[in-house]
Amino acid sequence: MKSLLQVSGLGKTFTSRSMLKKKEFQAVRNIHFGLEPGEVLAIVGESGSGKSTIARMLTNLIPATDGDIYYNGESLKRNRRLRQTLPTFVQMIFQDPFAALNPHHTIGYIVGRPLQVQRQVKGDTRPRVLELLNKVGLTPAEDFIDKYPYQLSGGQKQRVVIAKVLGLNPKVIIADEPTSMLDVSIGVDIMNLLLDLKDKENLSLILITHNLGSARYMADRIMVMYAGQMMEYGPTEELIQHPRHPYTKLLLHSSPDPWRETEEQEKMLDRQGEPVPDAGCSFYHRCPSASGVCRTTRVEAVSTEDGRSVLCHLYGQGGDQ
Ligand SMILES: Nc1ncnc2c1ncn2[C@@H]1O[C@H](COP(=O)(O)OP(=O)(O)OP(=O)(O)O)[C@@H](O)[C@H]1O
Ligand SMILES: [Mg+2]
Repeated sequence: MKSLLQVSGLGKTFTSRSMLKKKEFQAVRNIHFGLEPGEVLAIVGESGSGKSTIARMLTNLIPATDGDIYYNGESLKRNRRLRQTLPTFVQMIFQDPFAALNPHHTIGYIVGRPLQVQRQVKGDTRPRVLELLNKVGLTPAEDFIDKYPYQLSGGQKQRVVIAKVLGLNPKVIIADEPTSMLDVSIGVDIMNLLLDLKDKENLSLILITHNLGSARYMADRIMVMYAGQMMEYGPTEELIQHPRHPYTKLLLHSSPDPWRETEEQEKMLDRQGEPVPDAGCSFYHRCPSASGVCRTTRVEAVSTEDGRSVLCHLYGQGGDQ
């Protein structure tokens, strides 16, 4: 059976020119995963690891430079019709609901306009907009439909964004740090709303987050990214309970717990933001278990039968757990 979404060898190299010199930067390399209907995948990693770049390729905001993306088995690269109709298949929620809504328009217009553009509704969009506002918990919807974004709180704005996205009946929603601009309790409400809608509307979700805790709460599977690569991928509980990659272990141990942090983990956190080495494993300069081979030799992903994969020289050589 074809997956709803299949990603194979996906990569993105950005090219810039300064003083006639061409500079290339490989932001994302060799990403593989599948997404089934009703499934939640979390993409976790620190700032700059390439999470949003993947999301932008999945929604065709930028083209991939390597590999391909398949929706229901159709290649995004080769199928022009799929690219044209993609907004009715996959939609994205961005982290900043304040920037996502045009301040000059009412909520009714903001949610209703895409319905007209994508021909989801013929004629008056108001009844459908009211229905969508109800679905995202903006009730009574009549109290919200004629308001402007500045009259809403951050959490209410993010609900409007979700209503706008839902109107196009997508199969996949990609939420890029959807709660990072919100208070923790409001953020939890938004996460719960997304989970609820996933079940009711039969959606699949890709959640992008810095936080393994949110990923564990939401996701069936987790992909851990570092420096544009998939360090580890697998079913949520197995990955959290038995992490195989030193970076996943670092992420798990860096969640707030003043008693747990060891000197070694502090050292790894201190080196966050340092340039990634050119040769060998991109994580070796921060890895407490790194050996000579990690510095010199390119590492290949190892996939195991339990649906997990890990990008580490030490896996299977006593470095795994
Ligand atoms: N248009 C672009 N041109 C050149 N480099 C880019 C471009 N967009 C992103 N990058 C680079 O690609 C890398 C990955 O960026 P990306 O936005 O995907 O990271 P991220 O994991 O989403 O980070 P954050 O958690 O901060 O949102 C970064 O080093 C970034 O500077
Ligand atoms: Mg990002």
